[in-house]
Amino acid sequence: MEKKNCLVIFGGKSVEHEVSVITGLQVIENIDKDKYVAIPLYITKDGQWLTGDCLKNIETFRKKDFKKAKNIYLSFNKKDKSQLLIDKNKPLQIDIVFPALHGTYGEDGTIQGVLELLDLPYAMANIGASTNGMDKVMMKKIFSYHNLPLVPYKWYYRENLENNIDDKIEEIEKSLDYPLVVKPSNLGSSIGITKAKDREQLRKSLEIAMQYDSKIIIERAIEKIREINCSVIGYHDDLEVSVCEEPVAIDNILSFEDKYIRSNSKGKGFSRKIPAQIPEQIRQKIEDYAVQSFKAIDCSGVARIDFILEDNEKIYVNEINTIPGSISFYLWQPKGVSFKDLITKILNIAEKSYNEKKKNMYNFDADLFNKISRNSLKNLQK
Ligand SMILES: Nc1ncnc2c1ncn2[C@@H]1O[C@H](COP(=O)(O)OP(=O)(O)O)[C@@H](O)[C@H]1O
Ligand SMILES: [Mg+2]
Repeated sequence: MEKKNCLVIFGGKSVEHEVSVITGLQVIENIDKDKYVAIPLYITKDGQWLTGDCLKNIETFRKKDFKKAKNIYLSFNKKDKSQLLIDKNKPLQIDIVFPALHGTYGEDGTIQGVLELLDLPYAMANIGASTNGMDKVMMKKIFSYHNLPLVPYKWYYRENLENNIDDKIEEIEKSLDYPLVVKPSNLGSSIGITKAKDREQLRKSLEIAMQYDSKIIIERAIEKIREINCSVIGYHDDLEVSVCEEPVAIDNILSFEDKYIRSNSKGKGFSRKIPAQIPEQIRQKIEDYAVQSFKAIDCSGVARIDFILEDNEKIYVNEINTIPGSISFYLWQPKGVSFKDLITKILNIAEKSYNEKKKNMYNFDADLFNKISRNSLKNLQK
């Protein structure tokens, strides 16, 4: 069988840049090498597109030494032999793409749009699912339409908060009790998220969140909280759920450090319990909500759906991650799916969804130009 060239994209203009580099390198390391040749595409923080074997090695990123890497250029002109070019002229033949990007410009539909225009099959969520999964306000609106349980919340545009913050704070206090959690709508890894116990802290929390995004969410903070995450894989109605995990924080908000730094150092704070120790009945509900959330945004590939369990009984859907850290491989291993098989499954789904889209017709011959006279262009109504 001829091997396929799989472009693995990572890095990007996002606060989760470094986390994405790790996920990208994990995909490159674990991809089935009998089936695929992994080609790295590293997007630097300032938007340079680089490729080369040196980008398969974490040392390159530790030393920040990209001298051996080559630039990648994009051509949207189909007449070019390849639409991806190394150093402006050498074609780069790509069969399929694995975006291993987290956060803005990667998990939010933007890169997915580029891949659609390039007419390449790509892994994980499509444009719409990415956008709606990334924007917590949109996500909550869609989840609430599907009657999924959500923590009580309010949201505002930044400019409305900036213009009359005192009124808005009063409005928030009327509908939600302290403590509150304040979040930027479009971010991840807990960045910009803080807790507020009173009016003064709320003002500060709003100011922090407003630095990161133009939409701000205020939620009731759940105090007797346990966090349970569950992953879903598939496409359309053919879906499977993973085991559940319980990440445990040292503070009551899982911070960026908890998620990515403390988990790698000895003895401190953050750990994951896999599988989560929860009653059967709760697990079943969580699995069911996970599948419903995945379907609600029309997701595909693998996503991780994060839940909040209050007082050991009340379940809330907190968020969906359409390109979860490490592609959630650790939630699939206990189910007998290796990281290698998980990547292959995801790439097979990508091809299936690409072929499905190919069935669409994009022409509708109405002979419009011959039917329109020159004069009528002036008053032409669509
Ligand atoms: N309503 C809430 N009550 C208490 N803690 C919360 C609440 N919402 C979020 N958190 C804490 O903040 C963390 C990050 O919030 P989350 O909505 O998952 O954003 P992100 O996209 O940054 O991961 C969660 O993992 C949890 O620890
Ligand atoms: Mg989260």
